[in-house]
Amino acid sequence: MFDIQNIRKDFPILNRSVNGKPLVYFDNGATAQKPQAVIDALVQYYTNQNSNIHRGVHTLSREITIAYEEARQTIATHINAAQPSELIFTRGTTESINLVAYCFGKLAISEGDEILITEMEHHSNIIPWQMLCEEKKAVLKYIPINAAGELVLENLETLVTGKTKLVAFTHISNTLGTINPVKAMISRIRAVSDAAVLIDGAQAVPHLKPDVQDLGCDFYVFSGHKLFGPTGVGILYARHYWLDQFPPYQTGGGTIKTVSLNKTEFADAPLKFEAGTPHIEGGIGLAAAINYVNSIGFDAIRQHEDALLNYATEKLLEIEGVRIYGTSAHKTSVLSFNVEGLHPFDVGSILDKYGVAIRSGHHCTQPICQFYNIPGTIRASFAFYNTFEEIDILIDSLKKAIRLLS
Ligand SMILES: Cc1ncc(COP(=O)(O)O)c(C=O)c1O
Repeated sequence: MFDIQNIRKDFPILNRSVNGKPLVYFDNGATAQKPQAVIDALVQYYTNQNSNIHRGVHTLSREITIAYEEARQTIATHINAAQPSELIFTRGTTESINLVAYCFGKLAISEGDEILITEMEHHSNIIPWQMLCEEKKAVLKYIPINAAGELVLENLETLVTGKTKLVAFTHISNTLGTINPVKAMISRIRAVSDAAVLIDGAQAVPHLKPDVQDLGCDFYVFSGHKLFGPTGVGILYARHYWLDQFPPYQTGGGTIKTVSLNKTEFADAPLKFEAGTPHIEGGIGLAAAINYVNSIGFDAIRQHEDALLNYATEKLLEIEGVRIYGTSAHKTSVLSFNVEGLHPFDVGSILDKYGVAIRSGHHCTQPICQFYNIPGTIRASFAFYNTFEEIDILIDSLKKAIRLLS
């Protein structure tokens, strides 16, 4: 059963106060808090297990190599990858996208080819493609958004042409909260093209359990820290079809079968793409986070978070001068808004005085802000450990902020 008070006890940081007030943490879209199970996994690693992986013959190294590969298996099972070797440990979503842009670019992009992304992407899913298109003289095209903050998909079959080599889009928008119909998009793309499809799952994995085989994507990327795991670790899921053809991204220790002074023969995936000593405890901590969220269950998580979003949306709309950005019926856990005449940074600073942590700014989605012609938004983003009482505090503090600033 979903017991919010018990769940909150699992997150020690939720007990702290900020500026003399209980912390109300609504910046989960930027990074999520860590349950004790994840903290314990990290402490256990440093107290008992610290060693390097990669063919060590001594006990500690053998133990940690097994633990690291078990972590890969846990994460692969969670997203239903066909094999754990389709999962590459990276530093996070950003590095995963850069890896695909680099390798896919070398393998499959030439002058005149097209890459299709959307206007609602995080900068991490725009810039690597801009750079690649500039380098290869390829064309970058965008699926537009509408005023509700949804993708305009009527012309998808026209935007995808015979020259389209890759389509990349976010599963859930970090600024608007929109849940994109990724499975339907992929089947429509597949019907007219053999372009590869990358899904940016950074904002989806804290709220739902993706099934990469059911979605039918080629690549699915996410970060550990938004999924209640450690920072500095993330995942690139890639079908073997691509990993077998990709050139290495970074090279060095850990990536090889043999090295002579003249030549290197590379190992198979995933090792070929994991140069150097990885974030071992990060991988183990991420698997601990996944086990933890699965013990709560994503159905219960989504039910609670959607109730929080509906409650907060209703309360917010009662305040005069508030405009919400992202009004799709298919959204979750993100409430982006502005108050007429007030700058998001000023509102954010005052909310902080009341212990309320929200994020103000462009949220690394400047094209969305340009679409709405705004400098940024105030963004409250929810996790399953948030409460209705905390939303009351947000609303109350916001009213005080408006009085102070008006
Ligand atoms: C949709 C989306 N994509 C990519 C990123 C980048 O993630 P990271 O900074 O963990 O690499 C974020 C982070 O906010 C995001 O929300």
